[in-house]
Amino acid sequence: MSAEETLARIAKKVSVCANCALHESRKKAVPGEGPADAEIMFIGEGPGFHENEQGRPFVGAAGKFLDQLLAQAGVTRAEVFIANVVKCRPPGNRDPLPDELAACDVHLEAQIKAINPSIIVTLGRISMGKFTPGVKISAVHGQMRKVGERFVIPMFHPAAALHQPALKPSILADFANLPDQLNEARKALGRKVVERKKPVSQKSEKPEQLSLF
Ligand code: URA
Repeated sequence: MSAEETLARIAKKVSVCANCALHESRKKAVPGEGPADAEIMFIGEGPGFHENEQGRPFVGAAGKFLDQLLAQAGVTRAEVFIANVVKCRPPGNRDPLPDELAACDVHLEAQIKAINPSIIVTLGRISMGKFTPGVKISAVHGQMRKVGERFVIPMFHPAAALHQPALKPSILADFANLPDQLNEARKALGRKVVERKKPVSQKSEKPEQLSLF
């Protein structure tokens, strides 16, 4: 089976999953989206109000900010896979509970295996906890480290940076490093190194594009 077919199968399973109580209140499950051969996989926390309505990840305010962060790093949304540690909205956007994380992990693991990304970017401390438990995000954000067969970069959750303006310079700087980190990861994993577009922050035009800051 191709990676695309595997991902489609996972998405189908997620849409009818009843592994935990979150399915009881969901409108739409949010399996995640992106190309099966994505080199970078972003993993957020869980669907919010808009994601639950649309069945797509990061389509609300945090998603718009994520789009801007990607753009300034010269990365398009179409080339990355975006998923969450839980695929159904926790009521009131509360943190997912340990049993919900455990129940949903089978889907995330299957996605990671199918995509086999060079880099996983975790967005927020809940997602970071899956790969690098016991560390403080304020101490390690932006730092790439090898975890198993790939590299993991913990980053602040875009929503956190929206609510705490003091975090914005850090999250901007972390995203700006992503293209170089991707080439570093490619080299270390023996994958093809590709020259990338210059990040927006290195060009003089359109600083107003980052209007949310
Ligand atoms: N926050 C997340 O962690 N994931 C989403 O999909 C949307 C907001």
